[in-house]
Amino acid sequence: MYPKRRQILKCLPVLMLPGFSFAELLVQTPGQSRGPFYPDQLPLDKDNDLIIINDSLTPAVGEILHLSGLVLDARGRSLNNARVEIWQTDSQGRYIHSLDYNASENDRNFQGFGQFETDSRGRYRFRTIRPVAYGSGFARRTPHIHFSVTSAAYPPLTTQMYFADEENRNDGLWSRLSEAEKRLLTMRPQPLPESRLNEHSVSFNIVLG
Ligand SMILES: [Fe+2]
Repeated sequence: MYPKRRQILKCLPVLMLPGFSFAELLVQTPGQSRGPFYPDQLPLDKDNDLIIINDSLTPAVGEILHLSGLVLDARGRSLNNARVEIWQTDSQGRYIHSLDYNASENDRNFQGFGQFETDSRGRYRFRTIRPVAYGSGFARRTPHIHFSVTSAAYPPLTTQMYFADEENRNDGLWSRLSEAEKRLLTMRPQPLPESRLNEHSVSFNIVLG
């Protein structure tokens, strides 16, 4: 015998966004280029704290950023066990990639990559640093964090998150986005009220479809 509709809904990990009704659908997060610097060799430590490698006592250099959000489907339902991967520059503009020819010294205390599986309410969380711009001329990139999100029910999404308080206009990838896409991918960090270390938090929700 099939379960009744009410029972099915009860079983689903539903987390409704405030003000959201099933009559309206969320806009899918736009995809963006994976770029050339997805790590060609993943670090041994792949956890969601990118500023401490293993049990090191020396943290990465940079402005600490608490990055979190929800992974949802277009109906606003949270997706649990979705794998979220991020990769980004260190405070010197370096990726952990053997073909990153940026001349500056890389920060050996920065993990550069992290992964996390969303919890039962679709939440993910990372502690990282704020990335910096890199490259020059037309190839200059504004600060951004690369994301790859994989969930059993949807095709994988690769995208990039930008910062609303940066000069993004001269970035080729960002400036080609539509205004609606810019709003979906460009987030504003907030200072953490109690922090003495100038830590910031930023929230980035991801909609798969
Ligand atoms: Fe990049």
